[in-house]
Amino acid sequence: VNSLPLVLVDGDVRLRPFREDDWEVVEPWVTDPRVLRFSDFVEERSLAEVQAIYRGVAPTSELYVIERDGVPVGDGWLQEMNLPRVLDAFPGLRTSRIDLQLAYDVWGQGVGSRAIRLMTARAFERGDDLVFAVGIGNFNERSRRAFLRCGYVPWRRVPQPERGEGAFGHDLICRPALFSGTAPVQPHPGSDGIRAGDRPYGAAVVVYRRVPEVEVLVLHRAGLGPGHEGDWAWTPPAGTRFPAEPVDECAARELHEETGLELDLVPVGTDDDGWATYRAEAPPHATVVLDAEHDRYEWLPVAAATARCRPATVAAGISRAIGPLGSE
Ligand SMILES: CC(C)(COP(=O)(O)OP(=O)(O)OC[C@H]1O[C@@H](n2cnc3c(N)ncnc32)[C@H](O)[C@@H]1OP(=O)(O)O)[C@@H](O)C(=O)NCCC(=O)NCCS
Repeated sequence: VNSLPLVLVDGDVRLRPFREDDWEVVEPWVTDPRVLRFSDFVEERSLAEVQAIYRGVAPTSELYVIERDGVPVGDGWLQEMNLPRVLDAFPGLRTSRIDLQLAYDVWGQGVGSRAIRLMTARAFERGDDLVFAVGIGNFNERSRRAFLRCGYVPWRRVPQPERGEGAFGHDLICRPALFSGTAPVQPHPGSDGIRAGDRPYGAAVVVYRRVPEVEVLVLHRAGLGPGHEGDWAWTPPAGTRFPAEPVDECAARELHEETGLELDLVPVGTDDDGWATYRAEAPPHATVVLDAEHDRYEWLPVAAATARCRPATVAAGISRAIGPLGSE
């Protein structure tokens, strides 16, 4: 399919170029329903259908057969980014994506992580700015973890209606500084495991709308219990920054994750605790879609929003971001 002579090696795991006579080699797993369920969200594909997909990908990709101890056990590719949602977010940058699938019998033995690491290193070596894993089904924790192990972190959650109502997938992003180990890292409780070890540690986005008086969006944290009204019960959208993540990207990611909103962000400043605050105006009838971390939201006049949010640093962030607007 492609003729690049490139071979990527990590001990007994070796990625070699996928050749036109490799169809028989890959057929056992690329047509295996147990693999297809995760790689393509389908139960069945003929070899001819698989060939059409690979031939479509090939002109903009490096395709590899993944071998362990000289035995082919999977295949994967490094492809120039083809998704508008990523291309539009990073104009002028060279972005790519990695896709792979292994034979069922070798799952969970570290081969996937090593293949991902090899292809990601190759991408940065050839000059890519950012590498992505896109649309990993939310039921495919094995794949998500394999990418996280290689320095990928969450970028966006994407609806996958073709998999049924409420289904979604994960887009993950890999930035060179985290991949190469030069970005400061701190452990963080939670499923992603890490946060930035340097300032700013996170970002809050004070979202407001004019109806026509100014109202501020506050979210209620589900984990504290539906009746909890004390510290951290109500906050604007906010969250910690990932290592190597630019703080404006952190703010946009948290806003999207917690509310589904994509808005223009205006930086307001960073407080003494190392948290950055942004202000963002939402259209009057913007629809808020909460994530699982929150159980309700309210649009409140500025004074009510600052009274509702505790501790005082949260309220102060709202005042700083929105104070002048509230008295307009
Ligand atoms: C996704 C895939 C490439 C990963 O390769 P792999 O060799 O199985 O993955 P690794 O062994 O390197 O890493 C798997 C990670 O998932 C974890 N894991 C394994 N089984 C798991 C399970 N049932 N549930 C949750 N996590 C699991 C492992 O512990 C490891 O994470 P950790 O190091 O943080 O503990 C491979 O499983 C595969 O081909 N799956 C089917 C096709 C597919 O999903 N392709 C990707 C589409 S986005």
